[in-house]
Amino acid sequence: MNATEQGSETPAKNWYRESECSLEAFADQLRNRVDRELRFPVETEHEVPIYDCRALDEVLIDPVRQRTLQAEWANVLLDGAGVLVLKNVFRDTAPVDEATRIFEEIIRQERESGTHGADHFAKAGANDRIWNAQEKLCLQAPSVFARYFSNAFIACVAQAWLGPGYQMTAQVNVVRPGGEAQQAHRDYHLGFQTVEEVQRFPAHVHKMSPFLTLQGAVAHSDMPIQSGPTKLLPFSQRYAEGYLACRRPDFRNFFEAHCVQLPLAKGDALFFNPALFHAAGANRTSDVQRMANLLQVSSAYGRAMETVDRMRMCEAVYPILLEYQTDGKLTSIDIDFVIACTAEGYAFPTNLDRDPPAGGLAPTSQQALLRRALDETWPQSMLREALQLQAWKRTS
Ligand SMILES: [Fe+2]
Repeated sequence: MNATEQGSETPAKNWYRESECSLEAFADQLRNRVDRELRFPVETEHEVPIYDCRALDEVLIDPVRQRTLQAEWANVLLDGAGVLVLKNVFRDTAPVDEATRIFEEIIRQERESGTHGADHFAKAGANDRIWNAQEKLCLQAPSVFARYFSNAFIACVAQAWLGPGYQMTAQVNVVRPGGEAQQAHRDYHLGFQTVEEVQRFPAHVHKMSPFLTLQGAVAHSDMPIQSGPTKLLPFSQRYAEGYLACRRPDFRNFFEAHCVQLPLAKGDALFFNPALFHAAGANRTSDVQRMANLLQVSSAYGRAMETVDRMRMCEAVYPILLEYQTDGKLTSIDIDFVIACTAEGYAFPTNLDRDPPAGGLAPTSQQALLRRALDETWPQSMLREALQLQAWKRTS
């Protein structure tokens, strides 16, 4: 006999329908906040906590305090505002500027070759998009890539939401003067499927989807409000049926009436729960080329949106990491952050006949292989052979 037959409990709703979404219930979720005391932000603006990374250096070197900070970030993303701003993620903005130059060049090349990217949620026009900016930056400018992704704060927030072994992917979005806004949406996974498809997934999968991804944006230009930084609706990730509701006109109107925008400076970043209702804003300036590097970080247990040739990236960045390791330009920990954004961190799926567990429960991951190569200063050819052998072992 189940709970319904016993009549003792209201059965949980197992399937959601777009037509049954309630704007009133949504507004309730926005009002019924979880007011936790936050220890680390410097201020809160439009209910979004703002952290200054310059004040967090000492927190990151203390493992206990770092865990406390990560727990706070996870709570904000889970059932707090759903979004947090990290000011001065790049205190030295040189790697951001250098990456910007590479991205502009890639945009120019892709325009010329006709492979120019389009955005999911905005009309084509004044907007530019680089898909798989992660691999493209790594292959075209591995030294810029290494300095950019040796960033401790990006690693810290990714681990806070996803744990280790996360898969870094990135897409560049440029909204030029006159560029139009996106429509309100949620992000990958369920955010990138049709209403019909989303309705086929049971309720607990709606709950699971945001745990598989962390969404971020690094500002590559100053972003005054007029330039259209991301429009956000704090707490909207808490509405269980939101993957269906976010496309309804009444919810979109509500979003437009209540969303907030936060100005960012070059080198700042924001990170948000992918279930948060959000949309890139319109660029109403005459001169700001608004560029963001959108970091889409996937759980080790999820499938990333983009295919990334991580073997090729390992080969491209390896000589740079060897050099930076030798001359001390990056510490061993900095290099670990780069490895985390380059190589595959998860050992599965694999062919366990060819690739049995290596002294533990799991076979060697690509990240572990790259780390070993650096520790033992392998020549480039040895790394290539080891990567190829590992790739072969993982195939069926
Ligand atoms: Fe989005």
